[in-house]
Amino acid sequence: MTLKNKHIVLGITGSIAAYKAASLARLLIKAGAEVQIVITPAGKEFITPVTLSALTGKPVVSEFFTANDGTWHSHVDLGQWADLMLIAPATASTLGKMANGVADNMLITTYMSMKAPVMVAPAMDLDMFAHPATVRNLEILRSYGNIIIEPASGELASHLIGKGRMEEPEKILSIVEDYFSEGQSLAKKKILITAGPTYEKIDPVRFIGNYSSGKMGFSLAEECARRGAEVILVAGPVSLKINHPNITRIDVESADEMYNASVKEFPAMDAAILCAAVADFRPSEQYSEKVKRGEDLFTISLVPNKDIAASLGKIKKANQRLIGFALETNDEETNALKKMVKKNLDYIVLNSLNDAGAGFKHDTNKVTILSKNGEKKDFALKSKKEVAADIVDYTL
Ligand code: CTP
Repeated sequence: MTLKNKHIVLGITGSIAAYKAASLARLLIKAGAEVQIVITPAGKEFITPVTLSALTGKPVVSEFFTANDGTWHSHVDLGQWADLMLIAPATASTLGKMANGVADNMLITTYMSMKAPVMVAPAMDLDMFAHPATVRNLEILRSYGNIIIEPASGELASHLIGKGRMEEPEKILSIVEDYFSEGQSLAKKKILITAGPTYEKIDPVRFIGNYSSGKMGFSLAEECARRGAEVILVAGPVSLKINHPNITRIDVESADEMYNASVKEFPAMDAAILCAAVADFRPSEQYSEKVKRGEDLFTISLVPNKDIAASLGKIKKANQRLIGFALETNDEETNALKKMVKKNLDYIVLNSLNDAGAGFKHDTNKVTILSKNGEKKDFALKSKKEVAADIVDYTL
């Protein structure tokens, strides 16, 4: 009974995949969960509430009021009751309403009142799934901290073949089970994470920066917070949003600011994961006014920045763990091992720029983790979210 006593609100919307929600409800109940179904008006066109309430043993909630008897269904109570809200299937329209707070049905009001984490399993035609509106809405939902269960590829109800099929109920069940089993494995732990690039100012309008998007560090922050850790996320200039009650975000711009914030926070931490692409140098001089075009050669001399990882390595106590990253183009493992020793790290996560789909700018990454005890583990190319879970599993 992996889901014993777990309260799950299962939201069903108007997609042909709604028929799979009945199997999903049954699997969740068999695993021990109590399931309350909330269905949209369009959802009821695809599957009848009678089937669903017979499976869950509870009346299905659909309207704000029960017709004729004046009973009001409280979305607020459902928000408090649930340990998880799972919306499966989620149509493009529901994703749009969730992203924009269009609370015109019981499912969306329940979503907006939800105190528990929310998982969303989209289902739609391949062109709708690929439309920029859907892509953007999913991005917004991720930034709210919602977990997206990516649809699978295969034959769709339209007979077209592509990505958009709701993930199979058995797979969704296993994602929910994993979610609860990892539950609070990092409860009471305090973790510092650095993420993103740094900008080193030249003059009021120019800087030296790098291509780091911050995605890997933000995924790590989300993963640690999801497992119950208190996270301090020191973020360089990135356009990412993050929203989790366990995450305190400190925005910085330069390597020097990142250094100051990290050194201040580290003594109270159990671990630090240094994912930021910190600039190694900054201009020796910062101009207070915009540098004007000239005919002569213009040179900027650079001075080295402090090494945050090495500085934390020096003040690290025996009960603290330090995890660094290495992005290499050649002699990857040898260079990474050298960095681990030099900076007194416990683990180093190696990305190679030679691996397609890995490193900066991508949503995916392929890493090898090396430990100071000489262990080594290679991981496959995965989404940065999955890579974050691997890193946390292996190093914390
Ligand atoms: N790092 C840091 N502070 C710096 C430079 C790097 O904390 N000023 C951290 C990174 O966040 C990463 C690790 O050190 O976890 C390795 O970063 P990398 O840039 O690969 O190493 P460098 O020491 O800068 O070596 P090089 O650029 O010469 O390869």
